[in-house]
Amino acid sequence: MARLPVESPEGQYDIWIEPRLFEQVKARATEFGLNRRTAVVTNTTLAPLYGEALTAALPDAALVVMPDGEAHKNLDTVASLYSEFVKAGLDRSSVVIALGGGVVGDTAGFAAATYMRGISLVQMPTSLLAMVDSSVGGKVGVDLPQGKNLVGAFKQPECVLIDPDMLATLPTREYRCGLAEMIKHGLLADALILEKITDALAGNLLDMPMLIERAVQVKINVVQSDPYEKGARAHLNLGHTFAHAFEQVSGYAIPHGEAVAVGLAAALRLSARLEYGKPELVGQIEALLRGVGLPVRASGLDAEAVYAAMATDKKWRAGKSRFILLKRVGEPVIVEDVPPGEVMAVLAEVIE
Ligand SMILES: NC(=O)c1ccc[n+]([C@@H]2O[C@H](COP(=O)([O-])OP(=O)(O)OC[C@H]3O[C@@H](n4cnc5c(N)ncnc54)[C@H](O)[C@@H]3O)[C@@H](O)[C@H]2O)c1
Ligand SMILES: [Zn+2]
Repeated sequence: MARLPVESPEGQYDIWIEPRLFEQVKARATEFGLNRRTAVVTNTTLAPLYGEALTAALPDAALVVMPDGEAHKNLDTVASLYSEFVKAGLDRSSVVIALGGGVVGDTAGFAAATYMRGISLVQMPTSLLAMVDSSVGGKVGVDLPQGKNLVGAFKQPECVLIDPDMLATLPTREYRCGLAEMIKHGLLADALILEKITDALAGNLLDMPMLIERAVQVKINVVQSDPYEKGARAHLNLGHTFAHAFEQVSGYAIPHGEAVAVGLAAALRLSARLEYGKPELVGQIEALLRGVGLPVRASGLDAEAVYAAMATDKKWRAGKSRFILLKRVGEPVIVEDVPPGEVMAVLAEVIE
C-alpha cells in the first residue's frame, strides 16, 4: 500500500496505490471525499466491469457512460457529459469520478474543470498508461478535428485512486503501451524500474504495484518542479517528438505506446549519434522494449513525411528543432537545432 502526496499550485492531494482498493471504496467513501453527490464517468467497456459496481457502492452516485475510444475525446462528448451532470443534479459541491483510461480521464476531467466553473474531480485510472502518466499532473482536455489535445485546462484532482488489480482485465496490447511510458519514466529518473522489468524478462516475478509507485513518483517529481509546463516537464516528452510523428504519418494506425517505444529507440540513437549518450544504452533498451513485446522499428513509413510531421511539433519554436535526449539513465537534456541530416539518419535506422 502506498500513499504518495503531491504538491500542486492548488494545494496538496494524495495518490493512493493499493491492490484491492476498488473493493474498499465503499468503506472508505468518506476518506476519499465521495460521500456526496457523485457522477461516475466511464465508458461502455468499463461500465459493466467496474462502473456499475462503483456507482452502487457509493452513497449518492449516478453512472454516466461515454463511448469508448480516442475518437470520442472531443467537445461533443463533453457537451453530453454536461447535460448528464445537470440531469444527475450535480451542483458546485458535487464530485466527478473519472473511471477509465486516459481518454475518460482527460474528457471527464475537462468536463469537471469547466462545469459550473469547475467542480471536484477524483481520478480512478484503469489502464497502465493512465495510472503512471495521464492521471498525474493535472492536464485534462480533448481533441479538435484539427489536432490532438488542442483544448484543455489544468485541473488538479482531489485524489487519485489506483488499484493495480484492475489491470487484470486490460488487453495485453494496452498493457504493453503502458509499459512503454513506464520505461520512459525509468529512463528519465529511475534505473530501478528498468532493472526490475529486465529481471522479470529473466523469469523473476514482476512487482507491479511497486513499479507503478516508482513510475508515478517520477512523474510527481517532474510535475511538482514544473506544474504549468514551462521547463523541466518537457523531459516527459522523451521519445515523443518521434512518436507523435510516427502516429500522425501512420494515420494513427500505430498506437501511442508502440510509437513511444520506437520513439525511445530513436531518441537514444540520436543521443548516441550526437555523442550525448552511449551507444550501449541503445542496445540495452531496445532489448528491453522488444522483450516486453513492444516494437523498436516502424514499418512502411516515409521518412521525409515523418520529418515534416516532426517540424510541426508545437514545441519546435520558429522551425528550430527541439529534442529531449539522454546523457545517461536519469539525465535528460534538451537539445535544440539538431542538424536535419542527423535526424534523417536516425529515421533511416528505425524505419524499415
Ligand atoms: N493528461 C495527460 O497528461 C495525458 C498524458 C498521457 C496521455 N494522455 C491521453 O491519454 C489517452 C490514452 O490513454 P489510454 O492509453 O489509457 O487509452 P484509453 O483510455 O483509450 O484506454 C485504452 C483501452 O483500454 C480500455 N481499458 C482501460 N482500462 C481497462 C481495464 N482495466 N480493463 C479493460 N479495458 C480497459 C479502454 O476502454 C480502451 O478501450 C490519450 O488520449 C492521450 O492523449 C493524457
Ligand atoms: Zn505518451
